[in-house]
Amino acid sequence: MAMGISEMSFHSTTRLYAQHFCTASPFTSPLRKSAKVNHRRSLRARTWVISEKLHNFQKINLSQPLQSRKKFTECHCQQASDIANLSHDEANSTWVQDAVNKVSQVLGSTNGQSAIEFENGSAAKHGEDPTLVMPEPAKNLQPKKTRGSSLVEDEAWRLLVESMVYYCGSPVGTIAANDPLDSNKLNYDQVFIRDFIPSGIAFLLKGEYEIVRNFILHTLQLQSWEKTMDCHSPGQGLMPASFKVRTVPLDGDENATEEVLDPDFGEAAIGRVAPVDSGLWWIILLRAYGKCSGDLSVQERIDVQTGIKMILKLCLADGFDMFPTLLVTDGSCMIDRRMGIHGHPLEIQALFYSALMCAREMLAPEDGSADLIRALNNRLIALSFHIREYYWVDMKKLNEIYRYKTEEYSYDAVNKFNIYPDQIPPWLVEWMPSKGGFLIGNLQPAHMDFRFFSLGNLWSIVSSLATTQQSHAILDLIETKWSDLVAQMPLKICYPALEGQEWRIITGSDPKNTPWSYHNGGSWPTLLWQLTVACIKMNRPEIAERALEVAEKRLSIDKWPEYYDTKSARFIGKQARLYQTWSIAGYLVAKLLLEKPDIAKTLWSEEDAEILNALNVMVDPTNPRRKRGKVLKKTYIV
Ligand code: GLC
Repeated sequence: MAMGISEMSFHSTTRLYAQHFCTASPFTSPLRKSAKVNHRRSLRARTWVISEKLHNFQKINLSQPLQSRKKFTECHCQQASDIANLSHDEANSTWVQDAVNKVSQVLGSTNGQSAIEFENGSAAKHGEDPTLVMPEPAKNLQPKKTRGSSLVEDEAWRLLVESMVYYCGSPVGTIAANDPLDSNKLNYDQVFIRDFIPSGIAFLLKGEYEIVRNFILHTLQLQSWEKTMDCHSPGQGLMPASFKVRTVPLDGDENATEEVLDPDFGEAAIGRVAPVDSGLWWIILLRAYGKCSGDLSVQERIDVQTGIKMILKLCLADGFDMFPTLLVTDGSCMIDRRMGIHGHPLEIQALFYSALMCAREMLAPEDGSADLIRALNNRLIALSFHIREYYWVDMKKLNEIYRYKTEEYSYDAVNKFNIYPDQIPPWLVEWMPSKGGFLIGNLQPAHMDFRFFSLGNLWSIVSSLATTQQSHAILDLIETKWSDLVAQMPLKICYPALEGQEWRIITGSDPKNTPWSYHNGGSWPTLLWQLTVACIKMNRPEIAERALEVAEKRLSIDKWPEYYDTKSARFIGKQARLYQTWSIAGYLVAKLLLEKPDIAKTLWSEEDAEILNALNVMVDPTNPRRKRGKVLKKTYIV
């Protein structure tokens, strides 16, 4: 893909510059003094400015006299918007106090007292490092009933605010889980990109835009960071799975500390999986930020435009693949462990499609991006045709597969992927309702993964990857199969669970993914928000309302678990974290959207007329180019 030279050099210069600034020599880096800190990768929050001419960097902190540096002892940072010294120069330093005030208003504080008790604006710094301050346990903060909201909702807001993570005094994200009694936090004390999406949307829906803007801009800085695993570097456009704010001693000054952002691109994550979904969610959130806040200046920034292009470049790069779907390893999305979802899992395809749609809306039309936009448009068409045509199953389609002939060698084979009818699992023959259908979990040569994956199906509705008819059919299926998919807690991550020999082979006998637990058929309250957006889009909010009612009965009492176990979601998950932020935020987003369904349209993409026309041409039997799928005129080297 032809990326403008100036953009590329901007990005790589940023990287070099940041490397110079952030790591100096690895041998002298103060980060080496901290056993827990990896010297290679963290983004240091020092004061530095990029001049308006993007290539003309000016570093200001290292050359400052010690005297003036000292006053930054606690914090050496500038705000995210200052990093590129572009459109936002309003001082952000009062954000914390503002946030406290505003969220108090949100929670409808009484007697002039804030419902969220912050002291000195520093109450919510998280992390296991002794240098970071843990929030006060929630016990002092009793939920207050506010007008028009429920106790549960008020508690959820308070917990969400408590989960906020600060970098140099500004909120930059939310911690994944915030259970003060949990002694084995693993990486749940980090800000996960995917986990922050419902938090970010909850803040956007409440008019709290700054935390989202900061998150977008800081994670953008991490995108271009050097990342390696055993001497191998993944693509530059990769966004981290998560990051942590650490406080470390400042170079050459034992009395001073500085905060650093330490990203994990999968090099430390359990299983070492590359977070393919992070960049896709980042683009989706960026568009939601613009739509909700009306502030388009963030997406218009050159560094943000370059960030979008780098993600696209990584996704649209040519490979060996025959399919327009994105080829990924197992566990590269919300299901971040081995679960047999390598290849072309639906969740990634739905997010990919959605990110392409959102990016197309935001990319500035300029000469340098014409090829990219054409490649993007072509991919949208091919992807939507592929998924709508080959991933869809309902009674009719299942019966067709059941009667498939195999070993067809020709361009117009009916059974293109050589699927053996015996692959249709016995459970599906019973389970498929006569009304309704769904997109299967994965498609590979001679293999269809017939499991129902909730997020992939819901996000296909939200992004208009599924047709209107298919979208309704997915919701029909959720209604008909309520006792399997919702039962006592919405929503099953996938259905059914892998059991017995299948579980042993596919998960590698993973003790966390036992049948009907965690990723293997567990129930995840966070999925409520995606369900709600999908239902509102299809004008069927009553389905989401019903699910919310089920969730509301238990979530607060059960301390907001990460997931629930058993076939009907009766138990709190075996190893589920409590006070899991995206369970809290997912609930809040669902609640807010159902109260004001009109705002939900800022989160979905409408079916695009151009794509629809192209698809019609592709399935038009009178079109001679149709058979070998040569409707798209030109290919582009990305
Ligand atoms: C688990 C989930 C993953 C989530 C993470 C942090 O690993 O599988 O999707 O991002 O926890 O909550």
